[in-house]
Amino acid sequence: MTEAQRTLVLIKPDAVARGLVGTILERYERKSLRIVALELRTIDAALSDAHYAEHLERAFYPDLRDFITSGPLVALVLEGDQAVEAVRGLNGATDGRKAAPGTIRGDWALSNQLNLVHGSDSPESAAREIALWFPSLASGPGGQ
Ligand code: TYD
Ligand code: MG
Repeated sequence: MTEAQRTLVLIKPDAVARGLVGTILERYERKSLRIVALELRTIDAALSDAHYAEHLERAFYPDLRDFITSGPLVALVLEGDQAVEAVRGLNGATDGRKAAPGTIRGDWALSNQLNLVHGSDSPESAAREIALWFPSLASGPGGQ
């Protein structure tokens, strides 16, 4: 069954600094995912903490927070059939050194932390993250 689903994507500061925004966006668009919202912004520690709430106590989190707040990133909402899973597939495994060729991380990342992109890990996470990053979309179509 085809059902429009939304997911939150971040094109992280490493990707912006490396000039990969257009290249990465093209992957999502060519998959037929539709851009519903898109914004370049530099976030503060409070938004990082809220976004990565599940990771706050992890040993890697302080470094991750420094990185994600270090410069501009592109936040966007994508919509399409099974968008959450589709984006996770395009992004590839978390660690760029292990991600499969053909994925964004597999092709252009060689690090666990500097891995270019974020995609929500479930429809529930997507709803929470979209509400956090784009509050005006929170009650939009698709029930998210
Ligand atoms: P996680 O949610 O496990 O990965 P994903 O982004 O694939 O959903 O982790 C969130 C981010 O934290 C991940 O993209 C990169 C960073 N990270 C590290 O820097 N070191 C680590 O050991 C892990 C697991 C994640
Ligand atoms: Mg995650």
